[in-house]
Amino acid sequence: MNVDVLSYAGNLESLTHAKGHPNYAFSQTNICNAAQIATHLQQFQPDIIIHLAAESHVDRSIDGPAEFIQTNIVGTYTLLEQCRHYWGSLDPQHKQDFRFHHVSTDEVYGDLGNTSTRFTESTSYNPSSPYSASKASADHLVRAWHRSYGLPVVISNCSNNYGPYQFPEKLIPHMILSALNGKILPVYGKGDQVRDWLYVEDHARALATVATQGKIGETYNIGGNNERRNLDVVQAICSILEELRPDKPVGLGLYSDLITLVEDRPGHDQRYAIDASKITQELGWQAQENIETGLRKTVLWYLENTSWWERILNGAYRLNRQGKQA
Ligand code: DAU
Repeated sequence: MNVDVLSYAGNLESLTHAKGHPNYAFSQTNICNAAQIATHLQQFQPDIIIHLAAESHVDRSIDGPAEFIQTNIVGTYTLLEQCRHYWGSLDPQHKQDFRFHHVSTDEVYGDLGNTSTRFTESTSYNPSSPYSASKASADHLVRAWHRSYGLPVVISNCSNNYGPYQFPEKLIPHMILSALNGKILPVYGKGDQVRDWLYVEDHARALATVATQGKIGETYNIGGNNERRNLDVVQAICSILEELRPDKPVGLGLYSDLITLVEDRPGHDQRYAIDASKITQELGWQAQENIETGLRKTVLWYLENTSWWERILNGAYRLNRQGKQA
């Protein structure tokens, strides 16, 4: 069962392959709505909750933190409380099988600066933005519900995701679509910030592994082991486009001519990098894509799925979000 409020980044057109499947159900529900969550839990009787619902964009959290506090903190609290009541009502066998998997971010650990260290599961929390502070807060609530009430939880903290179906506010899809439309490619500051890129299918495999095999009460870091400077990522996108889409918008020489250094993000974290050795050693997961193979797949996907993103850019996808799949 997929529960989603369908705020601005929710898009049922990303789920057409699931529509109509006998094992799939969807409900347009806000995780802050305790009564609706309680009803879904009683009616659907899940064994596992994977909690991915969040406001996730750092720039938006700086412009308006309120929704981040509401969804990421109050929403997580609401889910935890409803899951605690539901879990308490289960018979012993189902009670033992149940688990709550909270999906979080490496941003809770803060900024690695120019060091060569990486985040482990025991790195201290030191969030920088309203977004990462709200996720850190949610992680603490999840651990408290485990310790105080015994709720069976697992937590995972991932690095930067990219790949098909990503909402075009994030760096990689934003740059691909802007380049295709002949718009500037705005790189914050000097473009020397470093992110550790994780292909979405690798993350999905890791989530399935943690949700089903992770040890209760444990945290697992999930990273792509693919650190790159932002400017290098944007230049790599331009090179792939030169090869795959040589006929450019009128008057454009090279895609890379569109790269423009713009004012930096306030409080911008310099570097994130994940040490994923725990999930590799204990659960046998490791990333299968590197940034070169993953970026090529991603650019190809956006080239082949123009109607998906055109309907986002022109707002048409919003017409298709009243709780029913079109
Ligand atoms: O590390 C995991 C996190 O990755 C997730 O928890 C967040 O939900 C997700 O949004 C992402 O956070 P970032 O802030 O790292 O991602 P974003 O795509 O916004 O930016 C990636 C880097 O690129 C960052 O250093 C800012 C920079 N950037 C971003 C945009 C959108 C630019 O230089 N220009 C841009 O237009």
